[in-house]
Amino acid sequence: ELGEFNHYMQKEMFEQPQALGNTLEMLSGAGQLHPGIFGADAQGVFEQVDSVLILACGTSSYAGMTAKYWIEQVAGIPCNVEIASEYRYRVSVPNPNQLVVVISQSGETADTLAALQHAKALGHPHTLAICNVPESAIVRETALRFITRAGPEIGVASTKAFTTQLAALFLLTLLLAKGKQRLLEADEKDYLDELRHLPIAVEKVLALEPSIQAWSQQFANKHHALFLGRGRHFPVALEGALKLKEISYIHAEAYPAGELKHGPLALVDAEMPVVVVAPNDEMLEKLKANMQEVSARGGQLYVFADGDSKVRSTDGVKVLAMPEHYGLLSPVLHVVALQLLSYHVALVKGTDVDKPRNLAKSVTVE
Ligand code: M6R
Repeated sequence: ELGEFNHYMQKEMFEQPQALGNTLEMLSGAGQLHPGIFGADAQGVFEQVDSVLILACGTSSYAGMTAKYWIEQVAGIPCNVEIASEYRYRVSVPNPNQLVVVISQSGETADTLAALQHAKALGHPHTLAICNVPESAIVRETALRFITRAGPEIGVASTKAFTTQLAALFLLTLLLAKGKQRLLEADEKDYLDELRHLPIAVEKVLALEPSIQAWSQQFANKHHALFLGRGRHFPVALEGALKLKEISYIHAEAYPAGELKHGPLALVDAEMPVVVVAPNDEMLEKLKANMQEVSARGGQLYVFADGDSKVRSTDGVKVLAMPEHYGLLSPVLHVVALQLLSYHVALVKGTDVDKPRNLAKSVTVE
């Protein structure tokens, strides 16, 4: 079943262009965007809701965090993201005009399912699932749903499920924006073209594997790593750190780079590699200043930039440019590079990539 690949994780990373193409199949050819892809009643719901609450665990919650940036920027409505296991046990203020979105690869995660049931019991009528398994418990309990078409994900470390969740969440963002009359026709066309091109763009990131592999030796003998990102790439940094922890057992933390001075800078020395997600977006200049802070303390920087980010490789600064500069959807590309990094570090360390110790693929107990 693995074919030319050594691990399911590797196979699943390389399946991402296909998984994205399948998930976005409705846009192929001259296909257009229609709320019906989320269910028959979706249009009315998208017009009516005044905010979004996203509930999920682990990697799926980072997809939700990325969507928060998209939804608030493009659809112009408030969006909050909560870890399902926290939400289900805290006293919260329900808003019946809120769209509750649960995100889950398996659709069986106990905390996410319970959080959904909790939201319904509180009187939230509008629920929507983004899930990779059509007949799962979570899908059965929501009024609206979108099934990602990642195909079975066997590796415990989520890869293709995450990028297809992002694609689904971007579709949701556009439909919410349309429901709120916030999407100009020209912008919609551009966004749809970018989505259609995404599989090719991801393919090009996967082709960076040899260069990323070349970095992996320098992580494998370290005990800690720090991941930095800003704006919509902060969740990507979180996901990169989670991937590294999960499969290489290296302690990794992610911070929004602006927080460095508020504590984590104290940890930086030559023994802690610092990975920076540095696309050429509106936060790049701020991020460069943050990188300076790291360099000044002898920190070793590993920078994932865009071709036009103008970050130069120097002593202590290694730079890899993404093949394409991708605007709002750029997190989808940058995360693939971080998946490859964690995979290759784990290979050097010789860990069980597909079945990391202490973890289960589907967490059906709380
Ligand atoms: O099936 P789900 O998406 O609900 O799973 C949620 C998390 O358990 C999952 O994403 C976990 O964090 C992964 N192992 C991360 O790689």
